[in-house]
Amino acid sequence: MGFISVAVDGPSGAGKSTMAKRLAEALGYVYVDTGAIYRTLGLLARRSGTDPEDAQAVSELLKRADIQLRYEADGLQHMLLSGEDVTAEIRLPEISQYASAVSAQPAVRAFLLDMQRDMAKHFNVIMDGRDIGTVVLPDAQAKIFLTATPEDRASRRCAELEDRGTPQDYETVLAEIVERDRKDSTRAAAPLRRAEDAVLVDTTGKSLDESFAILLDAIRRKL
Ligand code: C5P
Repeated sequence: MGFISVAVDGPSGAGKSTMAKRLAEALGYVYVDTGAIYRTLGLLARRSGTDPEDAQAVSELLKRADIQLRYEADGLQHMLLSGEDVTAEIRLPEISQYASAVSAQPAVRAFLLDMQRDMAKHFNVIMDGRDIGTVVLPDAQAKIFLTATPEDRASRRCAELEDRGTPQDYETVLAEIVERDRKDSTRAAAPLRRAEDAVLVDTTGKSLDESFAILLDAIRRKL
């Protein structure tokens, strides 16, 4: 039996994970957060003192990387690094830059490609990332490109960081978002771009409920 895949791509802070989680619940699909996998590799690079921009060193690191994805009773995707649950730690802002840097390495993308495709072979999935509709699951039944202005995304990210008890000032968050957008869109390996057949959804100024309704409708039309 074939499984259904929904791809949600877009820049950081556009609300992909919040939306994809809710959509997965509504559709009864498994939510796969691919950014969390890159973040886990970013954390490994940081912990091991590996320069994330050094292709050779990162390739060596991959040989010893033990990364696993596990779904727990809370229904959430947990990331395990050598058996240790690092789900919370990978959300620290400094890990974002490491994740972005390691994810530009072609060896890293190749390493994670099978892991991501394998999920889609065994479950109905809603997968979020940067290259899901273009590279990982080009045959996904529904593709969404979710975006919002950098300012809107920075405001949301600030609110999220505050909720987590790790507040940061708006200007710093905005600068990081702009820098990550630049790196993610200009890298040679699987850059962030909208798939031709992806539905573009701009959440600027929209509430979570409004965005959710638009997305669910866009996906249902494709299934
Ligand atoms: O989505 P999130 O912010 O958690 O992703 C962290 C970083 O991982 C991104 O900035 C991006 O560089 C990288 N990433 C990627 N491809 C994906 C998912 C994430 O390159 N499919």
